[in-house]
Amino acid sequence: MFSLGVGYHKRFKMERPLAGLPRAMLPCGYGAVAWNADLLEAHAEVLAGCFRGSQDAILFPSLGSRDGCAHLLAEVVRRKGFIPEATWLIVGPEGPCGTIQALRERIGLAAIQNVGILPAHQNKGLGRALLLRSLGGMVDTGYGRVLLEVTADNFPALRLYSGLGFRRTRVIYKAVPLRAGDDSAIVI
Ligand SMILES: CC(C)(COP(=O)(O)OP(=O)(O)OC[C@H]1O[C@@H](n2cnc3c(N)ncnc32)[C@H](O)[C@@H]1OP(=O)(O)O)[C@@H](O)C(=O)NCCC(=O)NCCS
Repeated sequence: MFSLGVGYHKRFKMERPLAGLPRAMLPCGYGAVAWNADLLEAHAEVLAGCFRGSQDAILFPSLGSRDGCAHLLAEVVRRKGFIPEATWLIVGPEGPCGTIQALRERIGLAAIQNVGILPAHQNKGLGRALLLRSLGGMVDTGYGRVLLEVTADNFPALRLYSGLGFRRTRVIYKAVPLRAGDDSAIVI
């Protein structure tokens, strides 16, 4: 498809200190599985299912396919700053349904990479429990603060993050090639 120039998507950087976290309670029937390398494909499958057709899959094309997600996750876990203790898979009655990964941003500051719950399992408190599990892993490995980025009109994610005490620290704009029919980007 031809590009029509460049558009910009508004995103927020959000942060919170890691002190004073509420307890992470998973709903009945769901469990959290700690990171190990054999789980990469399961994380990739869930990640692709969470972001399929989303605005974020336009901004970050890797999120739009299972192979793209597997490649992205392989890059994340290979990084020196990968935090396995803050990387979790949620497994429910029908199998894996939630994923989160984290990286060191700098000393004392951890960054959430991707968080997602499959659509059929959303709105049950799983996103909150998964995020809290990851933040707990950051505390256990000595981090004092956590950072994330979110697209400005991703309201479910914003509600989740604000409800857990994340506050906006910066507004950023991500450039994307404009495509015919995509009217979601700001054109400057
Ligand atoms: C953002 C996302 C992870 C949220 O996951 P989720 O599991 O639906 O989130 P939760 O259920 O924990 O919380 C969302 C809402 O569910 C409801 N909820 C929370 N706990 C609940 C419970 N025990 N029972 C019923 N509903 C509940 C609430 O309405 C809550 O919002 P509130 O805290 O303001 O009331 C999910 O929408 C998603 O995967 N989106 C696609 C990928 C994505 O955009 N990721 C973020 C990129 S930055």
